[in-house]
Amino acid sequence: MTSVASNQSASSTVAPLRISVVGTGYLGATHAACMAELGFEVLGLDVDPAKVEALSRGELPFHEPGLPELLIKHVQSGRLRFTTSYEDVGAWADVHFIGVGTPQKPGESAADLRYVEAAVRSLAEHITRDALIVGKSTVPVGTATTLKDLLATTRATASLPGTVELAWNPEFLREGYAVKDTLTPDRLVVGVESEHAENLLRQVYAQPLATGTPWISTDFATAELVKVAANAFLATKISFINAFSEITETVGGDIGTLADAIGHDPRIGRKFLNAGVGFGGGCLPKDIRALQARVSELGLDRTMRFLAEMDDINLRRRDRVVDLAVQVLAHDRGDATGPAGHGGAGAVPSPAAVEVLHGRKIAILGVAFKPHSDDVRDSPALDVANRLYTAGADVAVYDPQGNANAAKRFPRLGYVDTLAKAIVGADLIVLLTEWDEFKTMDPHDVARLVDRPNIIDARNVLNPAAWIEAGFTHAALGHRFRGLAQGPADA
Ligand code: UGA
Repeated sequence: MTSVASNQSASSTVAPLRISVVGTGYLGATHAACMAELGFEVLGLDVDPAKVEALSRGELPFHEPGLPELLIKHVQSGRLRFTTSYEDVGAWADVHFIGVGTPQKPGESAADLRYVEAAVRSLAEHITRDALIVGKSTVPVGTATTLKDLLATTRATASLPGTVELAWNPEFLREGYAVKDTLTPDRLVVGVESEHAENLLRQVYAQPLATGTPWISTDFATAELVKVAANAFLATKISFINAFSEITETVGGDIGTLADAIGHDPRIGRKFLNAGVGFGGGCLPKDIRALQARVSELGLDRTMRFLAEMDDINLRRRDRVVDLAVQVLAHDRGDATGPAGHGGAGAVPSPAAVEVLHGRKIAILGVAFKPHSDDVRDSPALDVANRLYTAGADVAVYDPQGNANAAKRFPRLGYVDTLAKAIVGADLIVLLTEWDEFKTMDPHDVARLVDRPNIIDARNVLNPAAWIEAGFTHAALGHRFRGLAQGPADA
């Protein structure tokens, strides 16, 4: 049964719930701290002792605005604790949230469910009282039902006291806004199989519900699908506008104006129509691949085939930035270059691209997959930086938060710790992540630091006229770059 309601608060007569959160990565650590902020006693569990020790000292191992403050506040108040022990959480909590990762399997499209399965099995083996296990991780449809069976068989073998039920409660938080999205979500979706499970979850979310947050109570399959459908839709929106970029890059036109104009139609909406180097991160890319893998397993190969196209469009944006770098630098040294091709440089640079890029100093502004995050998983920016480096460019990489994670992945790139160090002496600047620090650069100040005034805006966040006025050759995704053969770059 599916019901939609809002503004329903929980009974105030029940004792405060004790909450455990299994997995303390981006999702789990945020959820744990926010549950403490909502007034619950919380025990976060992770199998990594180093992570548990750091979090217990109030140290967050990743960048997420607002989260360090919440972590310190609730570690100090004693409301938020961390452990590696399933015995501890199993004997203590009423509700166990699972927030472990479901990454893409190496060399495959499907999601790797081993961590989520291990979490359910370990909880089932250690819970010694009545409890509700609530999955938050993004999983392929059908997973909750499989996990319910795993829970039942493990409990039967373990013969421990207490009745344990499963629910699914997908998470829609965005990195960079994780605290806000958790404390004031735009909707709450729960897949439940009993009134008891729904009531417990209503108690957990009593505060956001009291402010009118829509509450969608449904079955397991719908809850699982809501999450992947949302991410697939967002990925499609981004690739849709980026496909139009390929047209405007060829025939002219302004991709931003196009997005604004269609975005005024409330049925379309302007959000997630920012053309640029495309989507990355730990969610959108792997989720659209896992969805294709899952429907294929279900014998529905054609159903999500369009997502393969969305993936391709997205990845071609990275080729396009490398192509543009070649064209701009060829233009800089006086070569007559023709209009942009698409995907010409590719993941493996052509000898012609290497010839142009070799030894040129390129300032890479941004390697995080988006601003307000230090996450470089499947980051388009880091991929482009590495491709330019592989083609022989001398890259100076600066990201306000992402350098350390990027250096773990690609240690050979040249990393610098300030914007000025990145751009000084540069032949070309490539803006790849739209941090405020980059959006607010003064073109005249930058012109004094670079060797050659060339800039590629791969996120469409700079004012082309201001950069051209300051003497720059400006190129941007979704805009035609003509090179010397056909006159100046389009603004
Ligand atoms: C995404 C979803 O937005 C969340 O709702 C979801 O909970 C989360 O995945 C998840 O599954 O856990 P997130 O990965 O934090 O959140 O990042 P987004 O803000 O969605 O951005 C994803 C990528 O799309 C970024 O690389 C961003 O630069 C890119 N993007 C976004 C564009 O290229 N254009 C746009 O208009 C918007």
